[in-house]
Amino acid sequence: MPATVIVGAQWGDEGKGKIVDLLAQNSDVVCRYQGGPNAGHTIVVGEETYKIRALPSGIVRGKPCVIGNGCVVDLEVLIAELDELGDRGEVYLSGNAHLIMPWHVAIDQASERRLGKLAIGTTKRGIGPCYADKAMRLGIRVQDILDPKILRQKIEVALAEKNLWLERVYETAPFDLETVAAQYESYAQRLRPYVADTSLYVDKALRDGKEVLLEGAQATLLDLDHGTYPFVTSSNPVAASAATGVGIGPRRIDRVIGVAKAYVTRVGEGPFPSEIEGPDQERMRELGHEYGTVTGRERRCGWLDLVALRYAVRVNGIDQLALTKLDVLSHFAELPVCVRYRTPDGSETPDFPAHQSDFHAAAPVYQVLPGWSEPLDGCASLEELPEAARTYVELVERELGVEVTLLGTGAERSSVLTRA
Ligand code: IMP
Repeated sequence: MPATVIVGAQWGDEGKGKIVDLLAQNSDVVCRYQGGPNAGHTIVVGEETYKIRALPSGIVRGKPCVIGNGCVVDLEVLIAELDELGDRGEVYLSGNAHLIMPWHVAIDQASERRLGKLAIGTTKRGIGPCYADKAMRLGIRVQDILDPKILRQKIEVALAEKNLWLERVYETAPFDLETVAAQYESYAQRLRPYVADTSLYVDKALRDGKEVLLEGAQATLLDLDHGTYPFVTSSNPVAASAATGVGIGPRRIDRVIGVAKAYVTRVGEGPFPSEIEGPDQERMRELGHEYGTVTGRERRCGWLDLVALRYAVRVNGIDQLALTKLDVLSHFAELPVCVRYRTPDGSETPDFPAHQSDFHAAAPVYQVLPGWSEPLDGCASLEELPEAARTYVELVERELGVEVTLLGTGAERSSVLTRA
């Protein structure tokens, strides 16, 4: 099983970092294939908590790490992470990845402000404007830092236009060319040694029979093409994008592991059929510590949505599921699970609506399962779970036709159960 994709199956924050950290033990290389510092992967090791935004989570295990061409890179964030964690393992940064420049962050913030009630609720880290410039072929790439003259020229060309936008459209402060150029020249000095042909590196690793983990950020329902547009991120978290995001052929991918919470959370705006109404919403947020890693925002909480998960299984080709944070549910007497959506004409469907209006109008149809009150920390395998917890996991497997192979029962690295 040389190449494995780890993909978020809901709206992000499923605990992918923890699953990558676990699987990285037996892997040789860990790669990020999309997104940027909008991600925040949390890994708890004993007393230490790592919150990683730019580097692949495999860095905590000291594995060689690749930031693929599909990523967008904020050099300030990356350098801070390299200062903290960089001596743990080799880091390879794709020359084709795009740079998040200060004006991307400023435009993201100004544009959200301007949208007012229609705001997307982005992380305001410049993700959308950076990917937009990539598609417009106006972006600045990592490889541009290798040549100071080219770098300065590109900053100058970009600023000539961006400053007009910032001042005249968004009525906000422009950037000074000399200040930005000097700052990026110093970043360039620091980062030059990490720039690599990452496609070649990953290909070689696979040819040598090494185990490669391809770590997604954000998640299926935040995917630019397959998510709940426009309330999505600006890249493609789905598994197929791992191939383009690191530069390997799709047939090199052998396994797709979907990561889902045992319930659902969402940050930012957009429809959310199984969002909890009433005090259980707050209760779940507190029990699950559901606050954004990057922004600190409160996450919206909902019951497990198997219609959305069924969709994630389909669009990613998920063949195994990691179900995280099951322990959070130990505090509820009853557990509603959304198994179908009811449409306004009264019919019920197990399939995720293809049209946005149908999704907006979808109401959850719940199957209510009994809860359990036993703590899960004494369980050593899935088979040792309390009966009600096992029933919960079995319902997920039956409805999705996918086996749950990993089960998260606590924040600690060791709290992931496998089958006996
Ligand atoms: P952006 O990626 O910052 O442009 O934000 C777009 C949408 O994706 C917003 O709803 C964000 O809250 C959401 N989002 C982006 N990254 C993450 C993440 O890592 N976890 C959860 N939501 C995210």
